[in-house]
Amino acid sequence: MSDQKITPSQLRSRWWFDNPEHPGTTAICIERYMNYGVTLEELRSGKPIIGIAQSGSDLTPCNRHHIELVKRVKDGIRAAGGVPFEFPMHPIHENVRRPTAALDRNLAYLGLVEVLHGYPLDGVVLTTGCDKTTPACLMAAATVNIPAIVLSGGPMLNGWRGSNERVGSGTIIWELRKRLAAGDIDYEEFLSRATDSAPSVGHCNTMGTASTMNSMAECLGMSLPGSAIIPAPYKERSIVAYDTGKRIVDMVWEDIRPLDILTREAFENAIVACSALGGSSNAPIHIIAIARHAGIEITNDDWQQLGHQISLLSNVMPAGVYLCEEFYRAGGVPAVLNELLKVGKLHGEARTVNGRTLAENVEGRETLDEDVIRRYDKPLVEHAGFINLKGNLFDSALMKTSVISDEFRQRFLSRPDDPDAFEGRVAVFDGSEDYHARIDDPDLEIDENTVLVMRGAGPVGHPGGAEVVNMQPPEALIKRGIESLPCLGDGRQSGTSGSPSILNAAPEAAVGGGLALLETGDRIRIDLRKGEANLLVSDEDLAQRRERLASRGGYIYPPHQTPWQEIQRGMVEQHDRGMTLEPATKYRDVARR
Ligand code: FES
Ligand code: MG
Repeated sequence: MSDQKITPSQLRSRWWFDNPEHPGTTAICIERYMNYGVTLEELRSGKPIIGIAQSGSDLTPCNRHHIELVKRVKDGIRAAGGVPFEFPMHPIHENVRRPTAALDRNLAYLGLVEVLHGYPLDGVVLTTGCDKTTPACLMAAATVNIPAIVLSGGPMLNGWRGSNERVGSGTIIWELRKRLAAGDIDYEEFLSRATDSAPSVGHCNTMGTASTMNSMAECLGMSLPGSAIIPAPYKERSIVAYDTGKRIVDMVWEDIRPLDILTREAFENAIVACSALGGSSNAPIHIIAIARHAGIEITNDDWQQLGHQISLLSNVMPAGVYLCEEFYRAGGVPAVLNELLKVGKLHGEARTVNGRTLAENVEGRETLDEDVIRRYDKPLVEHAGFINLKGNLFDSALMKTSVISDEFRQRFLSRPDDPDAFEGRVAVFDGSEDYHARIDDPDLEIDENTVLVMRGAGPVGHPGGAEVVNMQPPEALIKRGIESLPCLGDGRQSGTSGSPSILNAAPEAAVGGGLALLETGDRIRIDLRKGEANLLVSDEDLAQRRERLASRGGYIYPPHQTPWQEIQRGMVEQHDRGMTLEPATKYRDVARR
């Protein structure tokens, strides 16, 4: 303990466990925690009570090994003189939860806020892993503002097919679906090859949303340096769990709180690092949400301005060829941050949970494999961040440029007079069921110049927002070798997808966005250099369509299936505002209330 600011009598948990003004409260709290063996000495001798937010369970395989890992967290907490109290979080499992795991990010956030506010906790270890678990935890940490530290569960080991073909989580599914559609493989082979990608405990081993968001937590300064990407089964993962437990106790004494760390500089660091990592297109939504709960306004314009100029350094799927195990062995997040810092792209003075600055944490952490983590002057892709597109279709939609392939560029972005723009006829789908029902319908006349549009997939249209924008072409086109078409929509797409879609469009069709006015057969023009996306019809025609839509009662979306869907739809904001619950964003520092 280097810098003690808090004395035992100032611990927040004293209100519950040693409160002479409210003897009844103390009595009922003490007797009930002692009923399973906690001692009076642990509760009353001024030890910090440390919560452990357990995100793992049998329902959440990506985070399940936290059940084992927290034993080491507890050892660390006790070694540093704290008392661990583990409690469950609402489960969020990405690829199983219907209608979408994103619906639960805000629900888990709310639950966590109530627990952290309402129980006798002096600090908390937030166990993260699967996609939305990390933002839910960080959003709650920002709102409550008790000392908090993130512990990632870590990615799975590399998946292999045979001895040398890497099989990456999620990414392989997008690939195999095309093979299945083309008739190259059958259903059984599809399933068998998919399971190759998941050889151990842990979360997705690609730079999907899970690895991205855990890396973001580290870049924000909210987890121990180097901890985000340690593969789940490695011994270093258990060691860092122990260190995390020790560190949170000191953080309580030092009174280091999330809002001391989650500054504008920290968010700018995260945006820059996300481009260099080839991070998920879900990251802007979650980072904007965490920032809003920390009282900091981050926009998609910030993402383009700060992030687009940054080069891609991590050669990890879906933007690259390796997986997270190799990324970790090549130096992981600290090596990327060190490279960015050397070229002046980061705020090195940003504070982190270990009490040191980001620059101090990554000093000397050079890449150990220059193919897996590139030097800044030898990147995989230059200008690898997101472009923020605007126009009469939406106010904001993002395109991840690090995944634009040469083949895609040649087909759509190669007109000599206009190299960064393309025009196309659209085929419009209202939600993924409509897409699956009609994609092979010849009446849609989809050819190699068609832009596939998905609407009704935003936070309101499909409660929580669906990861469905990366649509594959009709089977007939795939069989002719056309494996991708430009896609655009108000939904999201999986972070493991390498599709250069235009997504997260806001406002979505369901709340009156321009996508609601599109009709199959319309032409749209996308200009990446100007950052524009426009429907090519006259203003009069658009106005008439808007009137017709209004007379039908607006864009129709499916009814609520559960109470939470109705509650969330009534107050959720659009993707460019982080998909936060509007009334929740005004609460700050609630631990002190
Ligand atoms: Fe859980 Fe990818 S499905 S991390
Ligand atoms: Mg996903």
